[in-house]
Amino acid sequence: MDLPFYEQIRLPIYVQKMMTEKINQAFPKSYAEINEATIISGFSMASDVQTCSLLRSLAASKPGGKFLELGTGTGLSTSWILDGMDDESSLISIDNEPNFLKIANQFLGDDKRLNLITTDGSDWVEENKQQKFDYIFANTWHGKYLLLDEVLSMLNKGGIYIIDDMLPQSNWPDGHQEKAINLVNYLNTRVDLWLTKQVWATGIIIVVKK
Ligand SMILES: C[S@@+](CC[C@H](N)C(=O)[O-])C[C@H]1O[C@@H](n2cnc3c(N)ncnc32)[C@H](O)[C@@H]1O
Repeated sequence: MDLPFYEQIRLPIYVQKMMTEKINQAFPKSYAEINEATIISGFSMASDVQTCSLLRSLAASKPGGKFLELGTGTGLSTSWILDGMDDESSLISIDNEPNFLKIANQFLGDDKRLNLITTDGSDWVEENKQQKFDYIFANTWHGKYLLLDEVLSMLNKGGIYIIDDMLPQSNWPDGHQEKAINLVNYLNTRVDLWLTKQVWATGIIIVVKK
């Protein structure tokens, strides 16, 4: 049935004004400074703000939680995850590039909830397989395209695992799309996980451990 005229007008106005991708809530305190330092550093793999805003909302769903971020970069996503976490939560964030971590440490290092670790992702996962987390943002090779089973086994029941960059990106090297397809197909086969694929931002997958 056709919508009445006033509804046909009202809906587009609502979509244009309210249901947009604009983030109207406050950004994390250090975000602007980290972003500026990130641009100066030339770091080109930064997480986008839409994804970061989702990371913050999901972080707030795990009070007193144990959080893990694989791939700190300069700390952009880290700042949003910390913003969503409560005072009783803790976050381990790892990266193998000291120059990026230096920026994260400069702006976030005073936060007692955060443990920034300079390490290779493979070494860290192998050495910490027994640890359990309520929230994992896998933003590097490990926990996504490498050592995936090991990282998924670190999830507590009800724990959330998030990955981005799952929609084709202009900077993907040859063969990467195949890897992304294989990853999605594999996650679809896991009966111990609930999976939601969001065709939004850079392409997000949210997984919850049953
Ligand atoms: C997509 S970026 C992370 C972006 C970051 N989360 C942000 O919000 O901007 C991926 C990161 O993985 C790191 N990385 C690449 N290879 C790695 C490895 N073998 N071990 C640990 N980190 C690695 C890179 O240094 C880079 O900072």
